Order: sequence, then C-alpha cells, then structure tokens
Amino acid sequence: MKILGIESSADETAAAVVEFAGQRRLRLLSNSVASSLDLQKVYGGIVPEIAARSHLESIIPVIDQALSQAFARPGLANRNLWSSIDAIAVTRGPGLGGSLLIGVLTARTLAILKNKPLYAVNHVEAHVYANFITSSSSSLSTIYQLPTTAPRFPILALIVSGGHTQLVLFEDHFKYQVLGRTQDDAVGEAFDKVAKILGLPYPGGPSVEIAGQNGDPTKVKLPKAKMPGKYDFSYSGLKTAVLRAGQSAIGEEDYSFPSYRLASRLSEAQKADIAASFSYVAIEALVDKTIQAYDEFAPKSVVIAGGVAASKELRRQLSERLPTKIEYTDIKLCTDNAAMIAAHAYYQAKSGKKPVDPKALEISPGLQM
Ligand code: KG4
Ligand code: ZN
Repeated sequence: MKILGIESSADETAAAVVEFAGQRRLRLLSNSVASSLDLQKVYGGIVPEIAARSHLESIIPVIDQALSQAFARPGLANRNLWSSIDAIAVTRGPGLGGSLLIGVLTARTLAILKNKPLYAVNHVEAHVYANFITSSSSSLSTIYQLPTTAPRFPILALIVSGGHTQLVLFEDHFKYQVLGRTQDDAVGEAFDKVAKILGLPYPGGPSVEIAGQNGDPTKVKLPKAKMPGKYDFSYSGLKTAVLRAGQSAIGEEDYSFPSYRLASRLSEAQKADIAASFSYVAIEALVDKTIQAYDEFAPKSVVIAGGVAASKELRRQLSERLPTKIEYTDIKLCTDNAAMIAAHAYYQAKSGKKPVDPKALEISPGLQM
C-alpha cells in the first residue's frame, strides 16, 4: 500500500509517499518540503497570511515533486504516477486555519479527481508516527538516518514541538492516555522566545543550540518548574528567568529594561552561556519526567517526536539517563513533514478505520490529542 501524505498546518508545505514494505516496515519513497521560513524570518515568527499564501503557491509543485521522486522512471509518463498511489492522507488539525484549508481542500479535490480514499490526520499524533518509518528507497537511504525497527507497544512518547509538550502512553494504535502536558508555553515556543531575547534567528531551537555550543551550561542559574501534576510541564517561568538573567548580565537590575534592547548589550560569551544554560534546564525537565514515566509504566519502547526532538541535547541527556536503548529518527522527520502524515494514515487503514468523505472533510484548527 502506497500513501501520499499532505501537510500544511504551519509554515511548511509538505508532501511525501510512504509504502508498507512488509514485516512492520514502512518505507519512505519520497519527502518533499517547501518552507516559507525565509519570508517569515524577518518577523521573528509565523505570519498566518504569509504562510497561507505560500502554501497556495507551493502545494501543487510539492505534490508533483513527491510523486516524481517516488515513482518517476525514464519512459514513464508523469500522468501515470497517480496510478501507483492507493490513498491520500492530509492534516486536518491542529494548526493555522488558513494554512490547513489549503492542504485539506487540495487533498479533497485530488481524492475526488483521482478517485482515491482520503484519510484525515491529527498532526500531533502524526509526529509520533514518524518513528514508524524504518526504511527508505535506495536514493533516500543516504540522506535519511532511520530507525532499524518500528517501536513496540506499550510506547511512551514525548511529544515536543512549537505548540505541544506532552507525555503520552500508547497501549496500541490510537489507544492512548495523555499522562501530562504543559500548563502554559510549549518547550519549542520557549526556545523561540529565548532566541528572540538573545537576538538569534527564528526558529529558535536550532539557533539556540548553535549559540550554546561554546557556552557553559552551569554558568547561569535557572529554575526548574515544580508542577502539581506529576507529568505536567511549565515553560513560562523559565523564559522570564532567562530575561532576568540577561538583564543582570549587563548590570541592569531594573526589570523593566526592554527585552528587545538586551541582545545588542550582551557579549557573544554571555549569549552562549545563557543559551547553553537554558537548553540544559529546558531539556532536563523533559528528561526527568520521561524517566519517571518509564519507571512507572515500563513501556517496551520510548520515542521522541516533534520539532524539539531534533535537539542534540535532548538526545544526549535521554541516551545517558534512559535505562533502555532508544532509536531516534532523522531530524528531517522530527520537524514538520508529510511522511509522518502518510504513516499515520497507513496505521488508520490497517486498524480498520474508514476513510473520510472527501466532499465533507472540514479543518479542525483546535484539534487536541
Ligand atoms: O514540530 P514542529 O516542526 O512544528 C510544530 O508542530 O510546532 O516544531 C517546531 C519547533 C520550533 O519551536 C523550533 O524552535 C523547535 O521545534 N526546534 C528545536 C530544534 N529544531 C526545531 N528545538 C530545539 N532544538 C532543535 N534542534
Ligand atoms: Zn509539528
């Protein structure tokens, strides 16, 4: 079974083809991503109107690219590529309304025109399914480093992205319990805000990671949130603590000193120490609770999912502290992509879930797990 996935919930327009290759293996045949990041960077975050317009321009070329990367062979006419596809999958939420609409309307139209079953996908759940993609076609196998085996249930999943921070225990496909979640900011959002304070480019995760490489993670004392819920998280206090640390680093005890003027007064060494100390504490809070849940629930597999799962510090701390081996997926499948959307739909079909009506599918911007 070969599934075309389509993703457009935020600033990435993505399409990918995933194939079931037998023996619990999902093979990645193509993965195409166009980002409006360069257009958005100047604003330090996603501007919904720019994202939606950019999806509109990119979605058809991105789908064409995913199909030809997966199937094009010399002598095979492009119009025949669709005959290889068994189903279409699309993100219906959560995400930005205007962005989701482009993906959903495109998928609905294609499902009707090409007469393919259509699966609707929850983007946050789908991040976890990136870990089920275990092999790639020969042309992709040099580009992607994928796990050797699919995770086994029960699975403990740490889902960490720009909008979500939660620990989820999966008993089976689509049977799960959310153990805890952030009570305020998501961890990725905290990385993005700290980057802004330090004058580093958006998205914050990778730039804070790079800035912190030469810093001392013990230099700046930052608090770890104590939450009433055993598996809940909080990141708004840590973000404010970073601002205070920056203010005192430049000798400004006046806490009304504006955050946007701070970066130009901090030295590169001070920025590096703040970035390293923040990353360490932000990640340690995730790892502490993951270990605690591992001890309590004894899962067969642990996976990390979402953009922050690309963090080297997260992988380092987890590998060091988790008493079991963990296989990480390629960072290109941690940030937003459509391969995870197709993978989620494959397991929907395998679990006997029915496709949706392509004439009726609606977006769901506030969809939760
Ligand atoms: O999953 P994702 O691509 O989009 C959402 O669904 O939100 O996650 C984006 C988030 C951003 O906040 C970004 O700063 C963060 O993932 N991120 C990272 C890294 N790469 C991306 N955070 C920490 N370290 C990274 N290397
Ligand atoms: Zn995402």
